[in-house]
Amino acid sequence: MKFFIDTANLAQIKEAQELGVLDGVTTNPSLMAKEGITGEKNILQHYIDICNIVDGDVSAEVIATDFDGMVREGEALAALHEQIVVKIPMIKEGVKALKYFSNKGIRTNCTLVFSPGQAILAAKAGATYVSPFIGRLDDISQNGVDFIAQIRQIYDNYMFETQILAASIRHTMHIIECAEVGADVVTCPLNAIMGLLKHPLTDSGLAQFLADYKKGG
Ligand code: E4P
Repeated sequence: MKFFIDTANLAQIKEAQELGVLDGVTTNPSLMAKEGITGEKNILQHYIDICNIVDGDVSAEVIATDFDGMVREGEALAALHEQIVVKIPMIKEGVKALKYFSNKGIRTNCTLVFSPGQAILAAKAGATYVSPFIGRLDDISQNGVDFIAQIRQIYDNYMFETQILAASIRHTMHIIECAEVGADVVTCPLNAIMGLLKHPLTDSGLAQFLADYKKGG
């Protein structure tokens, strides 16, 4: 399972990269705005900065909602850096754009996916990644992890190659549950990744080992 970090915060991206387990980054316009990155020029430069920190895929989202605009923006984003994956929303024009980029060999991440039908369309259109937003489904009392399992079943039935990128991860248990049901990728806030480290028996066990070592010394 690949680990992506879901942020535009360079310090957090560096921290995850230094841990040695990072496979990529996802961003979206809200995450960019949260870091105060505004204006086309600054946003494009920020994507390059992110690519220079990590080794893996970096999702960069188009703003246009019409086919021509998505193609224009997506081609510009893809030309920025070889690690860029063009992030396209799951709307009618987006499906056309996914197919266009797939035919051109440009990698894509289909975002804002909330139903199995949308996941099927993304795969049929040749998306590299599909991003089901599990936290936002949980927020409206639909089980987000069950949705990941449903997509896994559908994609396996037909050997769709689109990778399931579980997004809108809110906590550490989401990561573990997504691993159990076979998500290909999880994109997470840094604290959810760091939560995987924690166990009180690890802490007390280590404290005991160190104390016993000192006694022996
Ligand atoms: C995915 O690519 C999105 O950026 C993200 O996971 C959305 O998460 P949120 O629901 O916490 O905003």
